[in-house]
Amino acid sequence: MLFLFFPLGFIYTCGGTLKGRNGSIESPGFPYGYPNGANCTWVIVGEEGSRIQLMFLSFAIEEEYDFLSLYDGHPHPTNFRTRLTGFQIPTPVTSTGNVFSLRLTSDFAVSAHGFKLNYEELHSTSCGNPGVPPKAVLSGGGRFAVGDHVRYSCVPGYVLDGHATLTCITNAGNSAVWDFPAPICRAEDTCGGTVRGGSGVVTSPGYPGNYGNQADCTWILLAEPGDTISVIFTDFQTEEKYDYLEVEGTEPPTIWLSGSNVPSPVVSNKNWLRLHFVTDDNHRYRGFSAHYQGNLLLPSSFFSVSLCCLFFCLFN
Ligand SMILES: *[C@@H]1O[C@H](CO)[C@@H](O)[C@H](O)[C@H]1NC(C)=O
Ligand SMILES: *[C@@H]1O[C@H](CO)[C@@H](O)[C@H](O)[C@H]1NC(C)=O
Repeated sequence: MLFLFFPLGFIYTCGGTLKGRNGSIESPGFPYGYPNGANCTWVIVGEEGSRIQLMFLSFAIEEEYDFLSLYDGHPHPTNFRTRLTGFQIPTPVTSTGNVFSLRLTSDFAVSAHGFKLNYEELHSTSCGNPGVPPKAVLSGGGRFAVGDHVRYSCVPGYVLDGHATLTCITNAGNSAVWDFPAPICRAEDTCGGTVRGGSGVVTSPGYPGNYGNQADCTWILLAEPGDTISVIFTDFQTEEKYDYLEVEGTEPPTIWLSGSNVPSPVVSNKNWLRLHFVTDDNHRYRGFSAHYQGNLLLPSSFFSVSLCCLFFCLFN
């Protein structure tokens, strides 16, 4: 343990590098509360060719002031994946390579229980546990290996957004992945939804009027396996840093959008995109409006072959 003094105040550092097939990490002082002014970084290094999966067992971090940031690789800003905060246990997260880093940062007042998680190295034939989102029920699964299926449903009063059945398949890069993201269960009368195929428009709640405070909406855009989805923003205005739209299913795996610049178009690198819109408890803006479009991914050879045939037919 190392204590340093900074102009800002007291900084408590901790963390370390972890190796091995599996293990667990807890925030310092868990479950009695992590220190203020913490900056703790854990780097998990798996075997070459493996991926790392994190499974949270407990999670309570002072919402919007303290964060657990995940980096898909070493803890460098270009590897930033997502930041977790609040009091809901996150669903499992899997890295794209054999290094996954976590950084806990806390402010100088109020802490919470903290977090505890297990991590595990995944090999090429395992999709890993897809997790059980709040208010969902999971059945099936086996060892979560290629060919296994899991099925989700929601407890009464909640509707399922996303795909109810997931199948563990092998992708083009030869790793085992679930064919769709885990669905979510949303209270019947709240924002968000599932959008399948074709094209349309997604807007923040109340658009073009202002969105509400404390919004938390998730839209899942689905296309057939092998296809991609593009999203073109036509309007974007949120409270910089505090109200944001998180887009998942892209390269890099997560994109954070906030502020008043209309973002560049976003294209999925999978057959799905997840849009997660979160607002804090003050300042309301117009929000966003975006067109989405499913794109059939045709192999480039298709075009050359058909062009070839066309010329052949025309000129022979
Ligand atoms: C790691 O895996 C071994 C063998 O499967 C298991 O006994 C052990 O409990 C695991 N440890 C953690 C922290 O998950
Ligand atoms: C936390 O520590 C890392 C390096 O140890 C540093 O790069 C980073 O800026 C620190 N973050 C904060 C919020 O102090």
